[in-house]
Amino acid sequence: MKVLVVGGGGREHALCWKLKQSPLLTRLWCAPGNAGITDVAECVAIGAEDVDKLVGFARDHAADLVVVGPEAPLVLGLADRLKEAGIKVFGPSAAAAALEGSKGFMKDVVWKSGIPTAWYGRFTDMDAAKAFIHQKGAPIVVKTDGLAAGKGVVVAMTLDEALKAVDDMMGAKVFGEAGAELVIEEFLDGEEISFFALCDGKTALPLVGAQDHKRVGDGDTGPNTGGMGAYSPAPVLTPALQAEVMERCIEPAVRTMAADGKPFTGVLFAGLMITKAPDGTQTPKLLEYNVRFGDPECQVLMARMKSDLLPVLLAGAEGRLDQVSIEWRDDCALVVVMAAEGYPGSYKKNTVIRGLDEANQVEGVAVLHAGTARNAKGEVIATGGRVLGVTATGATVKQARERAYQAVDRIRWPEGFCRRDIAWRALAR
Ligand code: AMP
Ligand code: GLY
Repeated sequence: MKVLVVGGGGREHALCWKLKQSPLLTRLWCAPGNAGITDVAECVAIGAEDVDKLVGFARDHAADLVVVGPEAPLVLGLADRLKEAGIKVFGPSAAAAALEGSKGFMKDVVWKSGIPTAWYGRFTDMDAAKAFIHQKGAPIVVKTDGLAAGKGVVVAMTLDEALKAVDDMMGAKVFGEAGAELVIEEFLDGEEISFFALCDGKTALPLVGAQDHKRVGDGDTGPNTGGMGAYSPAPVLTPALQAEVMERCIEPAVRTMAADGKPFTGVLFAGLMITKAPDGTQTPKLLEYNVRFGDPECQVLMARMKSDLLPVLLAGAEGRLDQVSIEWRDDCALVVVMAAEGYPGSYKKNTVIRGLDEANQVEGVAVLHAGTARNAKGEVIATGGRVLGVTATGATVKQARERAYQAVDRIRWPEGFCRRDIAWRALAR
């Protein structure tokens, strides 16, 4: 089978690395890919949001399957366009991708499906939004309706912060049109996890849970990022809780989307808050859906998956997930993200990274690239904020973590940094 993966980050490196191991694979392309992905796939110089060119490439090269990594091309309708061209695609239609593209749409689907979630209001008027905040009080959460590169969420602990968020998002339009509508919702307290299910429009097949570290600094401090590290399994997600998540937070949404004529195909990524009642009972509540694999969660999921990924994704694209089961390794997996100094603010580009081969030699380690290229001398250079995902497996989370940091310490990149406490929650348990 000839497969095209769309994207060029750590998630796509993990997908290509896993697909490359499939005996069914004859050719693998990645658009646009990165310096690490060239080890496992042929990189094609087409941007992940260049829908016309991606469709043209897939058609001209008779790709048997297209796997879309990021949300932006899905929201732009890449999956719809591929289907029209007769090409199989793993990823949702634009109508279904609105589960991530519009928080207001997502909340309406979740609410009418009876899925446990924060109460909320949708606003296109500033005065109404502020009146709602005054009525509900703080803490409260203010979100842009549209995509804002993960930055359009303010968890406001005070009324002033919440009101200022409305001014910034809707008044000053700091996130552009994404802030033309706001979702204002209940603050939920608890432990956050990421859960993933593969969907084919009718059937949802559970993957496994993971936890990611969104804050830039050790001890979960500093500004939010796309994710500074992750691990799987997430110890808080017991088998009983996982069954409850499937039944209460995933399957009802799949049924609603199908009934509304927008069947969901692809990865449904549920951001969940595991809330705890005074008597200790834990209830998963849905924070949000994403319509793709998490990054860096995908890196640890792929490291733990024993089954061949390719037939599973194909079954998803063809509506046959009811015939598929997935096996997982007992191992734990952990990824430490190395980012360019300054991230998530402004950072230097094109700094040289050395020691990658030595790092890859640590047992159980794969250094996955997120934002890299090669300079004229052929050296690997950093081209993004999040640059590497040092991924390790081990019999325990402790062993995986030791291996990952051993590999990190072999990487010579003075302009880079990482968190030193990935998986602290799991270790504390
Ligand atoms: P989102 O982009 O919706 O995932 O929000 C980004 C982050 O904000 C989440 O990962 C949570 O840590 C936090 N967050 C979002 N919604 C809530 C909420 N209702 N209560 C508490 N924290 C939240
Ligand atoms: N790591 C969180 C995300 O991919 O959105």
